[in-house]
Amino acid sequence: MADPRTLTAEGKLSEEFAVPSHVEEVKGQMAAFAVQHRAAGHRVVLITSGGTKVPLESRTVRFLDNFSSGRRGASSAEYFLESGYAVIFLHRHRSLYPFTRLYSGINLLDSLQLESGKGGSVSDQVVVNQQALPNIAKILMRYQAVKEAGLLLPVEFSTLSEYLHLLKAAAQALSPIGSNAMFYLAAAVSDFYIPASDMPEHKIQSSNGPLQISMKMVPKMLSPLVKDWAPQAFVISFKLETDPSILLDRARRALDTYRHQAVVANVLDTRRGYVVVVTPDTQAELVLTDEEASRDVEIEDRIVSNLTVAHSQFIAQQG
Ligand code: PMT
Repeated sequence: MADPRTLTAEGKLSEEFAVPSHVEEVKGQMAAFAVQHRAAGHRVVLITSGGTKVPLESRTVRFLDNFSSGRRGASSAEYFLESGYAVIFLHRHRSLYPFTRLYSGINLLDSLQLESGKGGSVSDQVVVNQQALPNIAKILMRYQAVKEAGLLLPVEFSTLSEYLHLLKAAAQALSPIGSNAMFYLAAAVSDFYIPASDMPEHKIQSSNGPLQISMKMVPKMLSPLVKDWAPQAFVISFKLETDPSILLDRARRALDTYRHQAVVANVLDTRRGYVVVVTPDTQAELVLTDEEASRDVEIEDRIVSNLTVAHSQFIAQQG
């Protein structure tokens, strides 16, 4: 086994993170999706969404989770679809999903009613309560159009290992379409993990007293993604901070380090109404007013418009 201190990010990925059994199959699906939609004149965006899970035990009872509801990724997917993109949606199992996210707080059974049959008997006809599921016909129409055109390819992850290997597979699958591919890395990815070799097999016992854990740094995958896996693609990372005073500095630092095209910088508490799109030469503040928020305008609409324009310019510059 290689010395972990001398390994590259990609080397660490293959040495220290278990490969999911279905990765080659999913890679084939993503490659076919990319080629098919590129041939039909679409651009393709890979959206990552939701938080990764880091197990503390091999037979996992406990794990650490990165916070993300998946709303940013799910709503952005809808705006990319509206803008004519085909979308690969690499998301955390059970996090918010395009279209159904709009009904995430609703109990489905409270939204349905049984129609009365003849003579007052209960029939098996079910009707939707329009008050409980507002705009359902409009949203169903959009959802079905996307489904029929095959424009949305969902791929799920739960653990950090699954996320990292599926991201690599996606990058390699999209590489043949060059600058027509966009990576929109909105997932909240753990910076720390416990290597399989250091992990206890069975449930950690509380009878052993307080728990002390030591975690290793996760290699940043932006580096091989930009340099090796999809070097012609348009790559956007996200930067999440809780302290607004360090946000822009960290976003600029990420651009300097990884040399990708843009960082969408956001602060946890204000992320629904304020983000800054930072590129090597520009800095665009995107803000929702209270009035816009009250009309259900979403900041993802602005983020996606900004980035699709930048993507067109990027493609034009590549010739
Ligand atoms: O889902 P919501 O509730 O709507 O919230 C949205 C969000 C706040 C999660 C989203 O807007 C956001 O900021 N996502 C990125 C959070 C994050 O992981 O930030 P970071 O500073 O840890 O990582 C920066 C970038 O490096 C990310 O694009 C990540 O994909 C990438 N990364 C991170 C770790 C790692 N090992 N390799 C990476 O490449």
